[in-house]
Amino acid sequence: MSDTAVQADDQTDAGRVDQFDALIAEGLRIEPRDWMPDGYRATLIRQIAQHAHSEIIGMQPEGNWLTRAPSLRRKAILLAKVQDEAGHGLYLYSAAETLGADRAELTAKLIDGRQKYSSIFNYPTLTFADVGVIGWLVDGAAICNQVPLCRSSYGPYGRAMIRVCKEESFHQRQGYEMLMTMMSGSDGQRDMVQDAVDRWWWPALMMFGPPDDNSPNTAQSMDWGIKRHTNDELRQRFVDMTVPQAQALGVRLPDPQLHWNEDRGAHDFGAPDWDEFFSVIAGYGPCNTERIATRRQAHEDGRWVREAAAAFAATHRESEGEPA
Ligand SMILES: [Fe+2]
Ligand SMILES: [Fe+2]
Repeated sequence: MSDTAVQADDQTDAGRVDQFDALIAEGLRIEPRDWMPDGYRATLIRQIAQHAHSEIIGMQPEGNWLTRAPSLRRKAILLAKVQDEAGHGLYLYSAAETLGADRAELTAKLIDGRQKYSSIFNYPTLTFADVGVIGWLVDGAAICNQVPLCRSSYGPYGRAMIRVCKEESFHQRQGYEMLMTMMSGSDGQRDMVQDAVDRWWWPALMMFGPPDDNSPNTAQSMDWGIKRHTNDELRQRFVDMTVPQAQALGVRLPDPQLHWNEDRGAHDFGAPDWDEFFSVIAGYGPCNTERIATRRQAHEDGRWVREAAAAFAATHRESEGEPA
């Protein structure tokens, strides 16, 4: 290639970068056909895949209680919620595909342990109160994380998030309503709720990721408009939102350092056990092995469906290709 041609290519690249930067600066959306830096694409694929995997793995802890729900009404609600999570996974895998990711490869990476999912789903659901507490705290934390993602700079991701957030809001409310019912029941039921809150509170705070000073990708993601708030900002928002809900419910949040700070106009609270967090995301949480084994088995069990669909599509293509 001549020097002139190299120069012309450089100018084209510079022009594309300028155009991309201008779209981001104006708060406009990047769409699948737009040019984007490799790092932006790779970051989005990683984040969206991780999010999709979390939705799908997240079906397991609550799915555990589907056959033992205490009433038909609770079972119908829980079934709807778990199905919603499957739908969220599908929207998100589709959004990752618009960036050129291959869905089969993403699934392979999940079941080989090469891609991660939210640490929260590696904890067990020991009683039915866990279903309510997951709706209240885990879906509540998911809403705090995901509402700002509706304005994510990548169009398909932001649009998927709008629908997902509407459904997460139903999830949060059904959990809270269930806990309200249990708290107005027997002492045994109230104890069960408190025990579930004690077990899920800290893992819920960990859902926002490591503290800002230990979150190396946050600054770049914020510059690109993929992320709108830091992990610590979102964690603070969640705590401030949840404390009055806990009071209304009549449960105690298991943090002796939690109190209202008049000067900051926000709650002070203790730090989660970050060693535990890093150990869980490294694969050593209470249920990591079980979650991945279940997902791998489901993938194997679905093989005949994928093969049948592919064979049907091939036959369909052939018959369409035949001259009339
Ligand atoms: Fe979800
Ligand atoms: Fe949800």
